[in-house]
Amino acid sequence: MNFLTIGHRGAMGHEPENTLRSFVRAERSGVDLIELDLHLSKDGALVVMHDAEVDRTTDGRGPIAEKTLAELRELDAGQGERVPVFEEVLEAVAAPLQAEIKDVAAARALAEVLAERQLTDRVEVISFHDEALAETARLLPGVRTALVASRYGTDVVDRALAVGATTLVLNLRRLTLEIAQRAHKADLRFFTWTVNTEEQLRLALAFGADGVTTDLPEIKEAAARLRGVSRSA
Ligand code: G3P
Ligand code: CA
Repeated sequence: MNFLTIGHRGAMGHEPENTLRSFVRAERSGVDLIELDLHLSKDGALVVMHDAEVDRTTDGRGPIAEKTLAELRELDAGQGERVPVFEEVLEAVAAPLQAEIKDVAAARALAEVLAERQLTDRVEVISFHDEALAETARLLPGVRTALVASRYGTDVVDRALAVGATTLVLNLRRLTLEIAQRAHKADLRFFTWTVNTEEQLRLALAFGADGVTTDLPEIKEAAARLRGVSRSA
C-alpha cells in the first residue's frame, strides 16, 4: 500500500502556516495530501486557521468567531499573506486535502461546500471532535472521515468506528504497537503526526503507519529511502 506524506498546515516548517503560500509550497514539494484547519467567521465563512484566536498567527487580536470575513482579510497572516477561506485553497492547489474541523460549527458549512462541488473524493474530513465527524457523515453519506487524537488509549479505535471513520490520525508521542495493531485489525488506516525527523519517521514506519503528517515535506524522500522505494514508485 502507498505510504502517504501529508503536509501539515501546508508546509509550515518553511512558510506561514495555513496560508496559500504554504499550501502551494507543499504541493510543489510533492506531498500526497495537504492538511488544513477550519473555523467559522462571524458571518459564516470557512476560515483556514489553526487557533480559535487570530493572535498567534496574524497581527490581529481576538476570536475568529467574533470577526467578519472582511475584518479577517485585513490581517497579515505572515509575509504579507492574507487569511484564506477554504474555497480559495480548493482553487490554489490541485492536491487532495485533509480538512480538519476545529470549530464544530464549521461541520455543516464544510459539508455544504463538499456536496455542492462534489468534492468527497478529493477531501477527507478530519477532526478531534467525534461529534463533528458524526455530523459530517450524517450530512454527507459516503464522505471519508478521520478521527484525530492527541491524548488517547486503545479505545480510540472504537471511537473511530462509532462515527464511521476509516482513518485515525494519531499523535506519535502516544502511539503504541498495541494501538497500531488494533487499528489495522479493525481495517482502519492510521497516520501519525508530527513527523519531522528521520528518528520520528523510523518510529512511524516501525509502528506500521500508513502515512505521516509533517511540517517538512522533504521527509517524503527519507520515507522513500527508508522504505527502499524510488520516489516515482
Ligand atoms: O493532522 C493532525 C494535526 O493537524 C493535528 O494537530 O494541532 O496541528 O491541528 P494540530
Ligand atoms: Ca490540524
